[in-house]
Amino acid sequence: LLTIDGSKAVAMASPIHYGLMTEEINFCYDGGLYAELVRNRSFRDDPEAAVHWSEWGSAVISLDAAQPFNEAIPASLRVEAKAAGEGVTNEGYWGIPIHPATQYRASLRVKGGKDFHDTLKVSLVSNDGATVYASATTPALGEEWLAIDLVLETAADAPTTADARLQIELAKPGTCWLGFASLFPPTWNDRPNGLRKDLMQMLVDMKPKFLRFPGGNYLEGDTIETRFKWWETLGPVTERPGHPCPWGYRSSDGMGLMEFLLWCEDMGAEPVLGLYAGYSLKGDFVAPGKDLEPFVQEALDEIEYVMGPPTSKWGARRAKDGHPAPFKMRYVEIGNEDWFDKSGSYDGRFAQFYDAIKKKYPKLKCISSVGSEQPKEKWVKSRKPDVLDEHFYRRAEVFREMAKDYYDGFDRKGPEIFVGEWAAHETPFAPWEPASAKEPATPNMTAAIGDAAFMTNMERNSDIVTMQAYAPLFVNLNGRQWRPDLIGYDAVTAYGSPSYYALRMFSTNFGDEILKAELPADAKVFTSVTRRKEDGKVFVKLVNPELEPQTVTLVMKGFRSLDSTVETEVMAAGMDATNRLDQPVAVIPEVGKWEGVKRKSDYEMPAHSIVVLTFQTR
Ligand code: AHR
Repeated sequence: LLTIDGSKAVAMASPIHYGLMTEEINFCYDGGLYAELVRNRSFRDDPEAAVHWSEWGSAVISLDAAQPFNEAIPASLRVEAKAAGEGVTNEGYWGIPIHPATQYRASLRVKGGKDFHDTLKVSLVSNDGATVYASATTPALGEEWLAIDLVLETAADAPTTADARLQIELAKPGTCWLGFASLFPPTWNDRPNGLRKDLMQMLVDMKPKFLRFPGGNYLEGDTIETRFKWWETLGPVTERPGHPCPWGYRSSDGMGLMEFLLWCEDMGAEPVLGLYAGYSLKGDFVAPGKDLEPFVQEALDEIEYVMGPPTSKWGARRAKDGHPAPFKMRYVEIGNEDWFDKSGSYDGRFAQFYDAIKKKYPKLKCISSVGSEQPKEKWVKSRKPDVLDEHFYRRAEVFREMAKDYYDGFDRKGPEIFVGEWAAHETPFAPWEPASAKEPATPNMTAAIGDAAFMTNMERNSDIVTMQAYAPLFVNLNGRQWRPDLIGYDAVTAYGSPSYYALRMFSTNFGDEILKAELPADAKVFTSVTRRKEDGKVFVKLVNPELEPQTVTLVMKGFRSLDSTVETEVMAAGMDATNRLDQPVAVIPEVGKWEGVKRKSDYEMPAHSIVVLTFQTR
């Protein structure tokens, strides 16, 4: 028996409860959402070798520090062709994706040697060299750097394949230097330097209300020197040096601060900005006081870049970068997972950032990266954080336990709670355990049930759990460092895990009022109920973790009237059922109708299922 009371709301749900958390992990930006197709486009991935580039024919290629392109690209790629038609190829991020009838934009910085004042042929070619999918020819090169933009278009009957490479051939024997080489497919909203369309579509479909970036560990870096230096990620991509990412590869920083903000804008989400706070992953920290001041200033400048007026120093820089209007931002996070800082300096560091931020931006809410689930001695005590960020990577059955009442007793006077990273794993292995690397990158239905159960508790408490975000969001299946991940892909195909669909079901069916929904103590289902005030839609979430169907008797009391047709969205599947690249939609929700519904009606929940019932009430 589930009794739902519509007479009055228990509390108001946070309007920004559902959002996204992202960072550079699992080739999430480079080789993922960031649509650049050339890998190692600035030749900085390895200072010793032109990795991901190969000779074509008997050409000889090498990094040439004597011919830098600029300060950000201190070595160019020297290509010496012994015969006409030889040159260099780039393998992309596990292939260059070919799609039919598609225009690709290539952008080169290139110059010829004394022995080469001729043209280059730029092509998309199958890896066996047999098929040219598209090609274009540059003007003749001079001995000064030239910026060349080309369009390469595939034919309508081209296949969809990642078994292809970018090839650059010299028309005659001779030498040329590449200072930069980039290739973009069509992007979301046609933005230059933009985002991969299929992945963006999947995110937009979730209707996220916020985006937490740039990390995660990626914010902190392994060392202070390799933290996310936001100012180095601005401006032309040829002037961004990139930096080592703590997940074992180098980031191009093509996904820079402006790109993050435009990404938010394109999803209708607000930024939740992670500020580097003087602690890095390998344990380096900056003591509070004088030494920390430059880092606090970096953060204040970053905030000014995001939301300062165009008349301010960094607001003017934002305007120069193409966005005069300030972005709306209400939350910033001071650091990431600072409970790992053994020095005990977080309280002091938090206070120093908090005071400086509040002085300049009194309305900006400051999130502590140490959540209430951490031991008390780690908590920030000298200030009252506006929000606590809590991270849970736990087994699905632990999430089912937490679903019962985890946030029910939290003090409504605050701080607000941001569950800034969470994900259920169905395997016995935590994401950081080596055994986890042998498991599929994306989770199965057992995990999705754990996720959905936990979400019912977060939703029921979404007056205080202001925001929540699953993490990590993405995984390139060829280059992962962590599981489970919400969305998997290779160069051409992407799919959502059952957890993705669970999240999408929850986030797209969410009201602004939390309603009282009572279940007997021994009920074997989880629930949460919200109502959208403006149109009277009531969203009933139900999770059946049992391997048998269950009948739930729904009693709708305190509503003036309700329609007899209820919209249903149901995802039901066995414990191991999952989606993969080669079966991307094996487990997805089905949309339907439940007819003849009265104030008291029996609903049959399929075994092992996640259900959203949408009632039209008045
Ligand atoms: O989501 C993966 C990692 O988990 C994040 O970078 C970090 O914040 C957490 O430990």
